[in-house]
Parts: sequence; structure tokens; C-alpha cells
Amino acid sequence: GWRTLHQYRFQGFWCQSAEIQSIIAFQNHFQAIDSDIVLATIPKSGTTWLKALAFAVVNRHRFAIKSHPLLTSKPHDLVPFLEYNLYANNQRPDLSNLHEPRLFGTHIPFPSLGTVKQSNCKIVYICRNPFDTFVSTWHFIIKGKPQSLASVSLDEAFDMYCKGIIGFGPFWEHMLGYEDLKEDSAFHLKRLAEFLEHPFTLEEERNGVIEDIEKLCSFETMKELEVNKSGKFVKNFENKSLFRKAEVGDWVNYLTPMMVERLSKVIEERLGGSGLRFNVFP
Ligand code: PPS
Repeated sequence: GWRTLHQYRFQGFWCQSAEIQSIIAFQNHFQAIDSDIVLATIPKSGTTWLKALAFAVVNRHRFAIKSHPLLTSKPHDLVPFLEYNLYANNQRPDLSNLHEPRLFGTHIPFPSLGTVKQSNCKIVYICRNPFDTFVSTWHFIIKGKPQSLASVSLDEAFDMYCKGIIGFGPFWEHMLGYEDLKEDSAFHLKRLAEFLEHPFTLEEERNGVIEDIEKLCSFETMKELEVNKSGKFVKNFENKSLFRKAEVGDWVNYLTPMMVERLSKVIEERLGGSGLRFNVFP
């Protein structure tokens, strides 16, 4: 079942052995520069969306919406993961020629971010309510793996989730690790652009540039693009499985009242004092 995911506790969080190798390589070799932008998330909490939005914002003077790279490339190819792509499989990527600001994605918890922590680079953290994140993760793990993991029951997966055993989790520690930064990060596109030092001008606002980017990066647009319907994004995971439902509140179709009560207690106990509040209903 869920146990076949072979999760290990490494530097305080749960991950798989191949991920450990990549994270160590990243920690030993990645040199952050101040203009870097790191998009940090726990899996299934909005990574793909944030990658698309941030890429569209900082590069908007280079590309027209109608011939935008996001229409023909996967968000995960335009903004690589530090651990899954760049430093995976013992690679030592040459990042010196990347266009600045360089954009990277990561699921690594804040305390393990290596030189990113010592630099002045920007970290944008997005988190999603744990109910929907759990359901999204459960779908992903069942669908994404070629070897049969169909035996993972919702109950078993849920029990592990509540105990904190989830990739890069416990989820509350992942969130709290970035919590100091949440005031600076952005959930709205304008705040995101300001934070990334690419604020929209009045003229852009008037010309509908904000709406253009919103639409370009929307679930509805991205899900229908040919490029996103095919291929893999990391390892054995189908790119199309990234675009499932993208709703707030889909958890009501999966979780029993007892499960909701249990996870609510975990959230209250672990995150109650943090001021983090989640939208759990549509
Ligand atoms: S991953 O594997 O960590 O990169 O996955 P991640 O992108 O974090 O999570 C996938 C969920 O996000 C939804 N999604 C989107 N929502 C809004 N806009 C856009 N463009 C978008 N792209 C993906 C996706 O449908 C997954 O949520 P669920 O609830 O499973 O549908």
C-alpha cells in the first residue's frame, strides 16, 4: 500500500531515496544569486499554477500572449525543479547562461534550502488547504505511478497524512518553515508581480495585461493545451495528471465526517497558533 512509496525521514522531512540524492547534490552545488526567484510548495498545492504565473509575469516583455512559450511548453519545463530536474541523477547543471531572473521550483522545506537561505533571492510560497491537497495527492499517487499502487486505500493514505507522513511533510512543518515569508509572498497576481519587482504599470493594467496573464495561466487554458495533455513532467508522472480538477472543496466527495474532524484537529493543533487560515469551501 502507501508503504511501498519507501519514504524516509531525511533532515526532518519525508522523502524518497532518489530525492535525497538530488537534495544533497543541490545543497552541495547550487549557488543562489540575489536575483533568483524560488517557487516553493508542498506537492499538489499549486506548483504548476504558480510556475506559470511567475514565468508569465517576469518575462512578459519578452513574449506576446498569442505566441507565448506557455502555449507550447510545459510549465515544469520552463521553470525546472531544483531537486527533480536540475540536480537529479547526479547532474551538475550549468546555470550560468540562464536568463535572469532565474526561476526555479522546489518542494524542499525551508530549513534545507542551502545557499538560497543565505542569499537575498526571493522565495514565493504557496499553500493550499490540507483537505484538497490531500485528495489531490491521493489521486496523483494512484494515477501517476506505473507500478500498481492501486491498493492504496483512501483510509490508509489519510491516516499517514494526518501523522505527517507525506512527501516533504509533515505538511504543517513545511508550511511553518516558510511562515515568516508568507507576508511577503503573494496570492494575487498584482502582489506577486510587485514582490517579484516586476510590478504592472498603469498602462498595462489599462491594456488588460493582468487579465491576459491570468487567463494564460488558468487551469481551463492550460488543461486544454496539447503540450500539457502529453508526455511526462518528472520521472514517471504523466503531465496530464497535473490538471485534474483544480477546485476548492472537492474533498467533500472523498472524506467522511470523521476524517474531516480528525484533519481539522490536526490543523488546529499544528497550525492554530500560526495565523494561517485556509479556504476550504468553494
Ligand atoms: S505538483 O506535482 O506538485 O507540481 O502538482 P501541483 O501543480 O502543485 O498540484 C496540482 C493541482 O493543481 C491544480 N492545477 C491548477 N489549478 C489552477 N490553475 C492551474 N493552471 C493549475 N494547474 C494545475 C491541479 O488540477 C491539481 O489539483 P486537483 O485538486 O488534483 O485538481
